[in-house]
Amino acid sequence: MSVLSGKKVLLGITAGIAAYKTANLVRLFIKSGAEVKVVMTPASKDFITPLTLSTLSKNPVHSTFYDSEDENELWNNHVELGLWADLMIIAPATANTLSKMTNGTCDNLLLATYLSAKCPVYFAPAMDLDMYKHPSTKTSFERLQSFGNIMIPSTSGELASGLVGEGRMAEPEDIIGFIEKDIVSKLPLRGKKVLITAGPTYEAIDPVRFIGNHSSGKMGFEIAKTAANLGGEVILVSGPSHQTVTHSFVHRIDVKSAKEMYDACHKYYKDVDVAILSAAVADYRPKNVATQKIKKKEAALNIALEPTQDILKSLGETKNKQLLVGFALETDNEEENAKSKIERKNLDLIVLNSLRDKGAGFATDTNKITIIDADFNKKEFPLKSKKEVSKDIINEIIQKLHG
Ligand code: CTP
Repeated sequence: MSVLSGKKVLLGITAGIAAYKTANLVRLFIKSGAEVKVVMTPASKDFITPLTLSTLSKNPVHSTFYDSEDENELWNNHVELGLWADLMIIAPATANTLSKMTNGTCDNLLLATYLSAKCPVYFAPAMDLDMYKHPSTKTSFERLQSFGNIMIPSTSGELASGLVGEGRMAEPEDIIGFIEKDIVSKLPLRGKKVLITAGPTYEAIDPVRFIGNHSSGKMGFEIAKTAANLGGEVILVSGPSHQTVTHSFVHRIDVKSAKEMYDACHKYYKDVDVAILSAAVADYRPKNVATQKIKKKEAALNIALEPTQDILKSLGETKNKQLLVGFALETDNEEENAKSKIERKNLDLIVLNSLRDKGAGFATDTNKITIIDADFNKKEFPLKSKKEVSKDIINEIIQKLHG
């Protein structure tokens, strides 16, 4: 899945011959899962039609502050467009527009939108080789980059003039690749290894029976997806669960019992930066596992149980660089129990769920959490979907990592 998936992309098109390539650029953004809106300078409409771009982007295309053909003469709100976007790309960016951008000139909708945009702005210059080399153009490149705008350099080749040299707009595929790489390089968990446990464990009684619990694994899988979307390399150790994850940054390891989960966690723990233990690990397992199916008898059946290893506690004992996050599912005395777990298990953060809160816990799509850190600072969050909750948890972790 592309990092552009779900992103809102605002494409600004200016009057260069390379504008004809933006049809393909819109297509590629859409294919990568982005939503696209297009603003054009009036002159760029000589090079590609708004109809082509609105058809491909499935959104209206604007080039003026209001649409004169629209009988309501609705104002095209550049501030709203600028705030809507997760990223803006100006392609092709002509020498004229680049120069105006450096000076804050605002005589068309595209320029006004540029000035209103709060998101990262990329620009892909396109012009003839001598224009590209001109000191005033070089000054525009430098000044725009000093504002934090990101330049997608032109390439060399045959130009519209017939001359050969630098100034060709980067190809649409390369523009997409450039932006994806740039986004990934700036993700807050880039370069961090994250171990996550999820789901229940099954403790065998005999070859066909086990002791388990109702954990679906949903919370842990959402945390894994969120961490991966933010650039983390995730090792997801999952007990039996129907949840799925397809992210290329998530390496899933399936286990059944607490012992298997313990072994998998210890195998990877020393190399990770963060460990988040959201699994509902069985606290007890049958002392002896019957090798044959246990037959029904008249008398009551007693199964002797022994404690499983506490994975979280064991990781706390061998902690060096890792940020260790545990979960607590409590029914009473919630905060005190959670704080005592932080101390007993040497945690940096604990995510507390109270079963007294409606919508929190195992088999729901929602959760209501409180996060407490090692200094007992407490943050309470409202009831949210598990996806949103996973974002809150990962945000807290990122804040702790960046200190
Ligand atoms: N946990 C674990 N290994 C176990 C049991 C629990 O790693 N054998 C982890 C869970 O993944 C969770 C945290 O420990 O992150 C809290 O588990 P919980 O069962 O609530 O805590 P306990 O220490 O077992 O305490 P209590 O049963 O008294 O609530």
